[in-house]
Amino acid sequence: MQTVNTVRTLREAVDELRSASGGGGGTVALVPTMGALHDGHLTLVREAAKHADHVVASIFVNPTQFGPGEDLDAYPRQLAQDSAMLVGAGCALLWAPSVEEMYPEGFASKIRVTGLPDRLCGANRPGHFDGVATVVCKLFNQVRPDMAFFGEKDWQQLAVIRRMAADMDLLLPRAEAIHGVPTVREADGLAMSSRNRYLSEENRERAATLPREMREAIARIESGEEVHGTLGQLEDALLGGGFDSVDYAELADAASLEALEALGEKPARLLVAARIGGTRLIDNMAVGPNA
Ligand code: PAF
Repeated sequence: MQTVNTVRTLREAVDELRSASGGGGGTVALVPTMGALHDGHLTLVREAAKHADHVVASIFVNPTQFGPGEDLDAYPRQLAQDSAMLVGAGCALLWAPSVEEMYPEGFASKIRVTGLPDRLCGANRPGHFDGVATVVCKLFNQVRPDMAFFGEKDWQQLAVIRRMAADMDLLLPRAEAIHGVPTVREADGLAMSSRNRYLSEENRERAATLPREMREAIARIESGEEVHGTLGQLEDALLGGGFDSVDYAELADAASLEALEALGEKPARLLVAARIGGTRLIDNMAVGPNA
């Protein structure tokens, strides 16, 4: 696996990959990450390898998606370990730009998707999705992949990226070429996340309350219990199970992310963000027969 750090060498390396497949026609999949890789990321790489001739992964801890007081400085950086993991998963090229390469002096542009990012995580993390949309747009333009792979754990992020790709006429990849990959979970159900490593041993055990209580709430909603009351019980169960606060626990339309009072015809999703010992965990699961 080759590692490149400048846009120029990246473009050359991607061209080489494509032509290595003969006639310049090989397909390229991009897996954007911020590093601190775990099996969830490697699942994205393995999934990408099933669909494309070559997989390019990016590792870039994007400062513009962190708010003041968030964990930008503490975010784990472990390029050597990540590189070895990517090789094992079948990645052909690693794009690891510096902050200066991504945002050269004078950089003054921003992609803002309106509507979708205003709720849920966007309400708690102002500007977060502007940073995500901007860097993902840049990554698409830099790598020019045929398709890209993101984890469904960041459900709202996936919706924002699909919207951005469709709205900006990003041909490579088109919105339909953005693949969402189901969340990979630990044995006790906790969604894999680079931030899980911030949890103390005790809080790591308590964190499993999140997926467990979400499943419980889903079972109640699916059996016809009233949504508002069930979400209130879910919040109480999380606080009782050791979480310090709940940013949101909502039933939402899976595509528009608008809040739902009841299950309807369209696919629905339960989305939760909650804090434990200073760590913010998010999770989401499908709800109902149309999920
Ligand atoms: O999900 C992430 O790791 C990041 O938000 C992404 C998509 C790589 C953009 O920085």
